[in-house]
Parts: sequence; C-alpha cells; structure tokens
Amino acid sequence: MKKIKVAIMGLGTVGGGTYDALTRNRDSIRSGYGVDVEVKKILDRSPDVLASRGIDTAFFARTIDEIVSDKEIGIVVETMGGLEPAGSFVLKALSAGKSVVTANKELLAKRFGELNAAAEKGKAGLYFEASCVGGVPVIRTLTESMQANRISEITGIINGTTNYILTRMSEDGLTYEAALEEAQKLGYAEADPTADVEGFDAAYKLSILASLAFHAKVPLSIVYREGITQVRPRDISAAASMGYTVKLLAVGKQNPDGSVQARVHPAFVPNSHPLASVRGAFNAVFLKGDFSDEIMLYGRGAGSYPTASAVVSDVVYCALRSAPLYPDFGKPATAAADFDSQYYISLCVTDKPGMLASVASVLGRHGISISKMQQVGAASGSADVTILTHTTGESSLRAAVAEMASTVGVGKINATVRVIK
Ligand code: NDP
Ligand code: HSE
Repeated sequence: MKKIKVAIMGLGTVGGGTYDALTRNRDSIRSGYGVDVEVKKILDRSPDVLASRGIDTAFFARTIDEIVSDKEIGIVVETMGGLEPAGSFVLKALSAGKSVVTANKELLAKRFGELNAAAEKGKAGLYFEASCVGGVPVIRTLTESMQANRISEITGIINGTTNYILTRMSEDGLTYEAALEEAQKLGYAEADPTADVEGFDAAYKLSILASLAFHAKVPLSIVYREGITQVRPRDISAAASMGYTVKLLAVGKQNPDGSVQARVHPAFVPNSHPLASVRGAFNAVFLKGDFSDEIMLYGRGAGSYPTASAVVSDVVYCALRSAPLYPDFGKPATAAADFDSQYYISLCVTDKPGMLASVASVLGRHGISISKMQQVGAASGSADVTILTHTTGESSLRAAVAEMASTVGVGKINATVRVIK
C-alpha cells in the first residue's frame, strides 16, 4: 500500500472541505485506489482555526518552514488564496521537492511560468484541477482526454458566485446586494467578492483554460473583462421578454490564423441554449475539438465540498502517477483584432419626433442592421429605447455607440450587452 503524507495550507472553505474529504473518506480512498493519504500538518493563522473545526491542534503548523523541512510530507495543498504569501510558500514547497496541489487561479494565471519552472527544477508536480470550475474535471479533460484534437473553442459559465447572483435576481427578484450576500454565506465568493462580480475570477480561469486548450499562453492582458455590476434588473427583464437569460460568459476561441479571442462579459443567452439552464452555483464548459466535436461538462463550480473533490482528486493522482508535463507556453497568443456578435442596447432619448430615426441612422452609418427596436417607456419628456441588432463586428458596434452617445437627444447609453445564438 502506497502511503503519502499531506500538509494543508489554509483551512478555510476549500481547505476545510479538503480536510473533511481526506479524513472522512480515507478508508474508501485506501481501498478504492490503493493509497493511504494522511493529513500531517495544517498551516493557518492560528491553532484556533483548527479547534473551531474540531481538529486536534497538534496538527497546527505556524510557518512554511515547518512543512518544507518535514521529510515525511510529500504533497502540499495550497488553499490560502491570494498572490502572497501563497506564491512564496508554493515556490518553497516545490523547490524542496514537494508536489503542490493548488486551487489558486489568481496565482496560476499570473505566475504559472515561474511555478512550473520551480516544479520542474524541484522534480515535483504542480496540480490545479480545483482552480477552475470547482468540482468539474475540466483541467484533466483538457490535459488527458483531448489529445486527438485541435481545440477551437472553450466557452462557458465559469464563476459560481455571479451565476448564483444572476439566477436569484432573475428567478426570484432578489436585489443584487441580497443575492451577493447569500453567495458569500454559501462559501462561493472569493475573500474579496470584487474578484467575482467584476469578472476577474472568470478571467483568471479563462486564461488558464484557454492556455491549456490552445497550447499557447493566453495572458491575462489579452482577456477582455466586464463584470455583472452594471447589469440592471430591467436588462434582465428585457432579456426575459425577448426569450433570453443573462449569464456571465467566458468565451475563448482560437482563429485559424492562431489569434485568440478571450473575453468575459455578461451575455443574453437564448433560453433554448443549454447554458441558459445552468442555474445557481452550477457551471458548464463547452469544448469544441476538430475530432471530438462539442463536449459539455457541467457541475458545481464553487463551494467547499465540490472544490475539495477536485483537490483530493489531484492529491490521489499525484500520489499514484508521475508529475504532469504542461505544454510549452513560451509564446503568448496574439489577441484577435475583432469578433462578431449580436447586441442588445438600452438607451435613453428625448421623446420627440425623429429620435428613433436618428438612432437608427447612426447604426446604419456603421453598417449595423436592426433586428428589433422598441420604445419601452416615456416619462417627463424622455423615453427608454431598446435595440437588438443583427450580427455585427464589435469594433463597429463600439464606434456606433460612441457616436450615439454624442448625438443630440440621446441622454444616456444605459447598457450594451452581447447576445449569443
Ligand atoms: P477562505 O478565505 O475560506 O480560506 C482561506 C484560509 O486560508 C483562511 O482560513 C485564511 O485565514 C487562511 N489564510 C489566508 N492567508 C493566510 C496566511 N497568510 N497565513 C495563514 N493562513 C492564511 O478561502 P477559500 O477556501 O474560499 O479559497 C481558497 C482558495 O481556493 C482561493 O485561491 C480561491 O480562489 C480558491 N477557490 C475557492 C473556491 C470556493 O468555492 N470558495 C472554489 C475554487 C477555488 P483568514 O480567514 O484568517 O484569512
Ligand atoms: N469564487 C469562485 C466562484 C469560486 O464563485 O466561482 C470557484 O472558483
């Protein structure tokens, strides 16, 4: 029987779930996979964190050195989050030849090259299934199940918090603030939820996933990012009235010339599309390979136990197999110059003859054709107008919106949201 000792750094939502899974299911892991995994040390700020979870404080490690100097520890689980000190701790562990399992997508998205080099130098493994899409095995699918393919697309809902918020707002009429508070209580949100609601978390994950999918480093600098804080209840209602659901989407596409579109933004998703029915903290990822065609992975994208499931899968994998080698990410991908989409535009205009015509003519001047246009309400001399365009280039749309904003009689462009087919 193979035996391996593990240290956990950060006993919060994910680290606590990982401790529970490794201790509660120790016997079934032993009998099912032939490896006995023992938690030997737990690093956190104070032994009280262990005591509050009913864990013997004898496991407590105050410093990283207590972990790296322990020759019995073979795997270090990093579930602290943030760039520092998590980054230095991971580097220390790898340099000491200990394999690292991390759930830290920010660290990976920003410093993968450095971590991977330290892993290679230390002859240690670096594992990060839990960093993207919680309990859904998307990293393993990309690295171990798609070799036959050139992957052209990876698109999905990859943040649990925002999907939870948008679902509660659209289905139950909750305010944004109330829905965010619930997501925090349920353990879905990052320590600073700005990372979720402004799309940073999804951008980190997209950078990691698209790099693995396209075998080219997709740096954060080319990931376009918009969060959900500007999505208004009335946009959600407008979407519903037209047969759409609002989702925060992550879209990664590799064009035939090798350039990459990588973007995170709210989108109107047709109710008939499978992503529209991904609710609450569930996530889903579509992969498109030239041989596999479309694959969709679905499951819980956040939360203590689903994420712990991914961490433990890496721990067991690491105990049983040799360290994974990742593709050479030396050359960063170039960003695609433009992409096509339909758009929803909501704007406020002066309620006077000719206004709709002048808005339509701005769009026309930029070659944008209108699919639907509606005046949705008039109050004290102004009117709200919603427009659904036909497919057009993003650059044309931006130029048209800029011109509209300076057109006499146009008060405010309230929202511009991409619409997928
Ligand atoms: P938590 O805040 O719940 O847990 C982090 C734990 O680490 C806390 O106990 C924290 O203590 C401790 N910690 C942080 N910094 C230090 C430090 N410098 N020294 C000692 N202890 C420290 O976060 P999560 O479990 O939610 O997230 C952890 C990681 O997992 C993050 O990288 C996150 O992005 C990732 N992740 C989270 C998921 C989720 O659903 N929550 C899903 C997938 C990935 P204190 O509370 O005192 O700061
Ligand atoms: N805060 C993240 C989310 C955790 O809501 O998806 C999972 O990565």
